[in-house]
Amino acid sequence: MKKILDVLSEEMGKAFEAAGYDSALGRVTLSNRPDLCEYQCNGAMAGAKKYHKAPIVIAGEVASHLADHPVFQEAVAVAPGFLNLKLRESCLLGILQEMASSAKYGLEMPEHPRKILIDYGGANVAKPLHVGHLRPAIIGESIKRICRYAGHEVIGDVHLGDWGTPIGMVITQLQERKPDLVYFDENYEGVYPEETPITEAEFAEIYPLASARSKEDPEFKARALEATRKFQQGVPGYRALWKHIVDVSKVDLKKNYDSLHVEFDLWKGESDVNDLIPEMVDYMKKGGWAYISDGALVVDVKEETDTKEVPPCMILKSDGASLYNTTDLATIMERMRLYDPDEIIYITDKRQDLYFEQVFRCARKTKLVGPETVLKFLGHGTMNGSDGKPFKTRDGGVMRLDVLVEETKKEMYRKIREGRQMPEEEARAVADIVALSALKYGDLSNQAAKDYVFDIDRFTSFEGDTGPYILYTIVRIKSILSKYSEQGGRMEGLALLEAGSGLEKELQMALVQFGTMVQNAAEEIAPHRVCAYVYDLANAFNRFYHETKILGEEDVKRREGLIALLVLTRDVMETCIDLLGFEAPEKM
Ligand code: ARG
Repeated sequence: MKKILDVLSEEMGKAFEAAGYDSALGRVTLSNRPDLCEYQCNGAMAGAKKYHKAPIVIAGEVASHLADHPVFQEAVAVAPGFLNLKLRESCLLGILQEMASSAKYGLEMPEHPRKILIDYGGANVAKPLHVGHLRPAIIGESIKRICRYAGHEVIGDVHLGDWGTPIGMVITQLQERKPDLVYFDENYEGVYPEETPITEAEFAEIYPLASARSKEDPEFKARALEATRKFQQGVPGYRALWKHIVDVSKVDLKKNYDSLHVEFDLWKGESDVNDLIPEMVDYMKKGGWAYISDGALVVDVKEETDTKEVPPCMILKSDGASLYNTTDLATIMERMRLYDPDEIIYITDKRQDLYFEQVFRCARKTKLVGPETVLKFLGHGTMNGSDGKPFKTRDGGVMRLDVLVEETKKEMYRKIREGRQMPEEEARAVADIVALSALKYGDLSNQAAKDYVFDIDRFTSFEGDTGPYILYTIVRIKSILSKYSEQGGRMEGLALLEAGSGLEKELQMALVQFGTMVQNAAEEIAPHRVCAYVYDLANAFNRFYHETKILGEEDVKRREGLIALLVLTRDVMETCIDLLGFEAPEKM
């Protein structure tokens, strides 16, 4: 269905034309003075030069063509030449009805849906997820959901870091503990056991030890690097161990991501392109792009217009080993072959900005992607503590992600227990659901590129611009609806009605903005737009609710109309939070 602003602009364009002006001047926008009008048109200001007339004169003429108009209840020319507009309730109702009866609330589907691959999450095998992994996971998940809802084909890939030294460290530590494991026996020729030699619990404990030792003990580190080299080169015992470690780690990662409602379509990793690397290197050499510099294989990626130094993209180290760059480029090659996406979006910490610039330039220069393929980097800011520095545990360490989630759940539980009477078990279940909204909304309501302060008290508050406030509003609507049902009210065949009050009209106007909002959020890959919208909608609903008798309304038809409005509001809000990656409980 047509977007409301387009409907209004079309009508306004006709009025400009009727008055003898270019219809393109009739662009209508939301009012930036909601106290004066609902919508506005600044076309007379824009046309003044062209027509050599004072804007107010033009506006006045246009307004005279809008008297008794079926769409505009009011169109007033005000100095210096704005047109202040009010929409007719009957017209708004028409739009609202169409919205309520259309798929996806009338959101227009793209003429050419795009195939978008989103690379997000940033997890590494062998290392537990820490707070730094929260943002790429939840931002990526939301962008995936928004783009999919907007009608694109979207593939989410976790792109595991499964080829690096952390795994070598774990192997080395394991070797010290269990030197007799068959994996370390160079003369072993049999099949390696299917059963894992390292349990999840052991694994969780072993990595921090190994990592700490690597920092302190150069000899240990050298052995870890050697182990890394061995599994990368395919020494059978090491490769078999590597596989076990990857599998055990994935179980743990999946659990973590599940608890955050983050779901990947692909669990591919750096290792998946290992066999592609020789081919790619060959291709880059043959094409004349890659050359040896100080022993390493590099591709120049600087451009004349650069204002900062953009170093060459290194493809192989001087010892022939591959790097982060290498696997990322080979992954682009593989993705083009397997999925042929129109666009790849990478979501990581913004400190990887220059790195991705190099990779993208290299991929373009070497024609791994054609000019039509969009490569986009969305760098997110840092989640900080109250001191403004990257979030840490109380003793200054790196906080594990599951610990952060647990603490948020605990705080949410405390608040729920404090405020209401609810059986213990139910309170826990509700707290878990609401805590997720607190974490996700607290993050997503900020522009991704900006840093923000993790403020558990504010994020878990039921008031203000928070996840719990949004859920609270939804639950409020649900509870009115279930009371209505309990009282024998019918739910089928309810007809929406013309707004009976200013606040009801505001709620309806907020609802009809939904489609525009989703399109903008998808185009700008900006989940914060969904947050801003659902917050405005929640506020519009609550203002309306406080001044309106709903269940107490005696006129049955009007009561049913209000219920229909509530149903639509609930559904739109629930769609929004689904786009953000969380859900609402039944009660709270
Ligand atoms: N595992 C990487 C890290 O810890 C992030 C991966 C991001 N994706 C990519 N294709 N490089 O920094």
